[in-house]
Amino acid sequence: NLLDEIHELENLFSVSNEKLQEITKHFITELDKGLSKKGGNIPMIPGWVMEYPTGTESGDFLAIDLGGTNLRVVLIKLGGDRTFDSTQSKYKIPEEMRTSQNRDDIFGFIAESLKAFVDEQFPQGVDKPLPLGFTFSFPASQDKINQGVLQRWTKGFDIPNVEGHDVVPLLQEQIAKRNIPIDVVALINDTTGTLVASLYTDADTKMGVIFGTGVNGAYYDVVSDIEKLQGRLADDIPNDSPMAINCEYGSFDNEHVVLPRNKFDLVIDEESPRPGQQAFEKMTSGYYLGELLRLALLELHGKGLIFQNQDISKLKQAYVMDTSYPSRIEEDPFENLEDTDELLQTDLGISTSVPERKLIRHLCELIGTRAARLSVCGIAAICQKRNYASGSIACDGSVFNRYPGFQEKAAQALRDIYGWTPGSPASYPIKLHAAEDGSGAGAAIIAALAQKRLAAGK
Ligand code: BG6
Ligand code: GLC
Repeated sequence: NLLDEIHELENLFSVSNEKLQEITKHFITELDKGLSKKGGNIPMIPGWVMEYPTGTESGDFLAIDLGGTNLRVVLIKLGGDRTFDSTQSKYKIPEEMRTSQNRDDIFGFIAESLKAFVDEQFPQGVDKPLPLGFTFSFPASQDKINQGVLQRWTKGFDIPNVEGHDVVPLLQEQIAKRNIPIDVVALINDTTGTLVASLYTDADTKMGVIFGTGVNGAYYDVVSDIEKLQGRLADDIPNDSPMAINCEYGSFDNEHVVLPRNKFDLVIDEESPRPGQQAFEKMTSGYYLGELLRLALLELHGKGLIFQNQDISKLKQAYVMDTSYPSRIEEDPFENLEDTDELLQTDLGISTSVPERKLIRHLCELIGTRAARLSVCGIAAICQKRNYASGSIACDGSVFNRYPGFQEKAAQALRDIYGWTPGSPASYPIKLHAAEDGSGAGAAIIAALAQKRLAAGK
């Protein structure tokens, strides 16, 4: 019956404090493995940002950001005094481009968007090429800052002939074809951008974290603690040099040792373009939350518990519900959930009763809460690994910024992992903060640092 079913769903999606602690412990081991020569599931990619921003970086830079909800093109003016101005345009990436059969489609689309932006911002032309920081939010291996070999697509992207290739020349080629005066000087991950942009204004920043279409984090390690860098560094690099690491921890626990995956998680994985990859991300990030809801609803319908005698053909379409669905349902301010009623009616052609809607909302809460609780394990693991007793975690992404209640639940889960209770000494020393604009300011600052290093002949 319905009550039993609700209990079962609660069991499937709940994660106890003890489980969070166990996950965090295993996470630390996996982060360390990723830094070893042999490597592990978590890529732990050195980002070749080997300095902390001083706040004095200055100049005009372009930045683009591929990998989140939109393609963004940004013009950043770094003031050199810990301030910056930015102007940006967003371009919706056509859905079919995520899985286009021709790689030129996506890089051509970026170049076209850049051209439109540059023509608009610099109608008189420019005297010398504009330096551009390319935020490419996928796992990309780097031996230097202006390079990025895509390891594998994540977040539903699946375009042939890009995995295993350096994406910088792929983009630069499309830019050259259109005669746009732009030099790609740095390739960065969105988490690294978030880390560096926040450090530019807040020296307490310890990590840059994205809770968005994907989940991931970046932090600074020290080169002597990164075993896999042995033999890859110039002789004049001091042992204590910092190195930004893009963890790519969305791939945590691909071996399925510790995460409490349920039957819906298994379906998501099996039906994804890359089964076996991004185990952690598939349970926590925005790309998958709506799909988890859809799968659970289909199961309830199959058991005859909801949507009786209704046409559910639309609901049968994979990924028809993006994260805005659970988000809007949780946000519904009405006692009888009238907004939810309208949403399901208009978009999916399904009429619901009040008890059905209450059940659906409860399900959304379970899915959103689990995502918030699990996703902070990556933060706790990095902080424990680096012995950060306090500090600020710069957070960005649509789930962090827009999913109702997410920030509070994530902060609570962090306390649950540490066992911080209200009133404990210096309560909650590690804080989650909404970040500065990572892919704009962060990319610009990193581009400025890269230019400085190049000018110094390093
Ligand atoms: C933006 C950041 O705010 O969030 C990007 O500037 C980042 O760098 C993005 O990639 C991630 O969020 P989402 O939800 O769009 O994937
Ligand atoms: C995915 C990407 C990673 C990115 C994250 C957030 O996990 O692989 O590079 O940082 O999404 O956008």
